[in-house]
Amino acid sequence: MTDSSNKEVILSARPGVNGTLTEKNFAVRECDYPSDLKSGQVLIRNLYLTVDPAQRCQMNEETGVHYLLPNQVGSRVNGLGGVGEVVKCGPSDQPSDDLATGDSRSPIKSPPKFKPGDFVMNSERLHWPWAEYFCLAEEELALIDPEIQDLPHGLKLPLAYLGLSGLTSYLGVKSRGKVTSGDVVVVSGAAGSCGTLAGQFALEWGAKKVIGICGSDEKCRALVDGFRFTTAVNYKSPAFESKLAEACADGVDVYFDNVGGEISRIVIVDHMKPAGRVVLCGQIADYNKDVPYPPPIPKDMQNAIVAKSIDRERFLVLSYQDQFPEALGDMKRMILEGKIRVEVTEAEGIEKAGWALMNMMNGGNIGKQMVKVCDSSGRVKQD
Ligand SMILES: NC(=O)c1ccc[n+]([C@@H]2O[C@H](COP(=O)([O-])OP(=O)(O)OC[C@H]3O[C@@H](n4cnc5c(N)ncnc54)[C@H](OP(=O)(O)O)[C@@H]3O)[C@@H](O)[C@H]2O)c1
Repeated sequence: MTDSSNKEVILSARPGVNGTLTEKNFAVRECDYPSDLKSGQVLIRNLYLTVDPAQRCQMNEETGVHYLLPNQVGSRVNGLGGVGEVVKCGPSDQPSDDLATGDSRSPIKSPPKFKPGDFVMNSERLHWPWAEYFCLAEEELALIDPEIQDLPHGLKLPLAYLGLSGLTSYLGVKSRGKVTSGDVVVVSGAAGSCGTLAGQFALEWGAKKVIGICGSDEKCRALVDGFRFTTAVNYKSPAFESKLAEACADGVDVYFDNVGGEISRIVIVDHMKPAGRVVLCGQIADYNKDVPYPPPIPKDMQNAIVAKSIDRERFLVLSYQDQFPEALGDMKRMILEGKIRVEVTEAEGIEKAGWALMNMMNGGNIGKQMVKVCDSSGRVKQD
């Protein structure tokens, strides 16, 4: 990668609403290096990008949700988040002749918000192009807090914690799960980005027991040894139901649901207490299926929700934006105090972005799956 070449990832074919992603769905090609910047535009060198389950829905012709647009076949993939370095800013607007004569109707624009070398991430909009270099409008970018750059994971921290994953977990556990002292909490998708954080927040706010559900024995060990979960159960093991029943013998107050499907049916029907709270965070078990979101649920699960008065409303972190500043402040305090462990699974090079998305969908990650596109000098190690 040099400062005059550029590469992008395109969606080369849709997987089909009932298909899993394969390498045939992505292609990497050379593309123009953005050189002609307009006022208010920022040229970004892409350092890290995240891959997110919701991107699977963007590979369909319709995403099924109002806040995400579909990717188009033959066009650059739009990621949901990333971190980059400012290479250049567009020209400042010069004062016009009218301004010079004191005409107050003349436009006055402020100087560029960023300078070369600044580290930035996407602000509220879920938009981060899958290319080595690209331009965004400055209002789509936020400066990364320099104080977090020296913490473990440094510039990756906004993607793995002080961003979408962390806010989803923090606000899901706090505002919807309402976890309090003595609660028994189950987290599915527990070894992933939201899951590892949700379990730790629940413990931080007094949960008596946090039980993780995940897809391998290695992940179970990581949850207990590395993330302080009380216990963890592998849903792919033949003993899953009996081990879960053992772990949930006291009943479950809060279920942080990242996966849906049969796992969630078992948790809700067999183990939740009356007046329990489900944080309906995600339903990844159904993302490769042609069903609406949230997917329909079986009759016995619907009956259990009614009979036990379980609160199971859809949770969307973007509906809690008024709480973001306070949540981010508290989350920053927690990481500075060493209370939260963040984990990252990293792939290297823009060529690996499609692979990384598939890897995460197939459970190959612990913590946040992301891609290191290059370092701040523009170089990247290739396998
Ligand atoms: N509500 C919101 O506002 C919001 C915001 C962000 C994310 N989310 C949702 O939160 C969930 C987690 O997202 P994330 O970014 O943290 O991803 P992640 O958990 O880091 O990665 C996804 C994990 O899902 C598991 N998985 C895949 N297919 C599965 C299946 N059929 N059954 C059970 N588990 C399966 C895999 O782990 P295993 O090895 O355990 O199978 C995989 O590692 C997703 O459902 C996502 O859509 C919601």
